[in-house]
Amino acid sequence: MTRIAAISDESIAKAAGLIRKGRLVAFPTETVYGLGANALDGRAVARIFEAKGRPRFNPLIVHVANVAAAARLGVFNEDAQALAQGFWPGPLTLVVPRLASAGLSDLTSAGLPTVALRVPVNDAARALLQAAGVPVAAPSANISGRVSATAAAHVADDFGGKVDMILDGGPCASGIESTIIGFGEAGPVLLRAGAVPRAAVEELLGNWLIAPDKRQNPQAPGMLASHYAPKARIRLSATEPRPGEAFLAFGKAPASSDSLNLSPSGDLREAAANLFAHLRTLDASGAETIAIMPIPEDGLGEAINDRLRRAAAPRPADRIGDDHE
Ligand code: TXA
Ligand code: MG
Repeated sequence: MTRIAAISDESIAKAAGLIRKGRLVAFPTETVYGLGANALDGRAVARIFEAKGRPRFNPLIVHVANVAAAARLGVFNEDAQALAQGFWPGPLTLVVPRLASAGLSDLTSAGLPTVALRVPVNDAARALLQAAGVPVAAPSANISGRVSATAAAHVADDFGGKVDMILDGGPCASGIESTIIGFGEAGPVLLRAGAVPRAAVEELLGNWLIAPDKRQNPQAPGMLASHYAPKARIRLSATEPRPGEAFLAFGKAPASSDSLNLSPSGDLREAAANLFAHLRTLDASGAETIAIMPIPEDGLGEAINDRLRRAAAPRPADRIGDDHE
């Protein structure tokens, strides 16, 4: 079984050493746990894809300790600079043209000319990135296509001994992935709704974000298909559970024996923080279907509903009912 280590100077130094040696380290961020490897080392990055069962065409986010380190890896136009100044460190990812001089493994960007960059604010993540001294490629630390991990135990459940170390920073504060912004000819594009609400980004830019172009979505390969899927089927917009269903409530809810509530008071931040852990818990109950109450679309609701729609989307036939542990 993989070693789960509490955060300390020693565990951070050990984890940083493992990253530099080309090993896999799962670490907490303010959004979800990441499965990290040295982004300069193609063999290390390949290990991430193997461990997750992730398709190679789906690029990874590169994590760095500060804005200066990010500026060595990509080209920031005026909007990108403003967003980096305004939201880093924090749960925002910027997809910018990649600098060849950066030496990032091609696998990291799945051959694209761009790179997704993020400077997390979580203390343990920052300490690890600082100590590692190399850019760290890290997708969410879950089996590809499945529910993201917001606790160290989730990572251990998914990967068993396949990662070299898990840093345990407790539950993730936001609980939902970073907001991803790309830059098209017509301006900034919202590639993935996430922990920074759209309105905050638009306020800083003084402009609306453009929706990604669905006809030619190569910039966002991982963002269309079924994703965030528990083993159970998902039924959305449920007002109450049907017999045998597990029930995920939001706000004032009918009583049910097999239910959890994302936020009894109807708070979207609390709901985001609970989303993946509650999906995992209800899935573990063995119910065939998880019925989920409607979530308002405003603020963090856009990101929550994005995840729920993908969790409910038709799944590749080979994954239905498979046992990924
Ligand atoms: O909050 C987060 O962003 C977490 C933590 C660990 O940082 N990471 C995360 O990574 O959610 P992942 O791999 O689960 O999702 C990253 C998304 C994928 O959908 C991928 O396709 C997209 O970012 N992406 C990465 N590089 C890209 C690029 N160059 N162009 C467009 N999309 C990119
Ligand atoms: Mg993910």
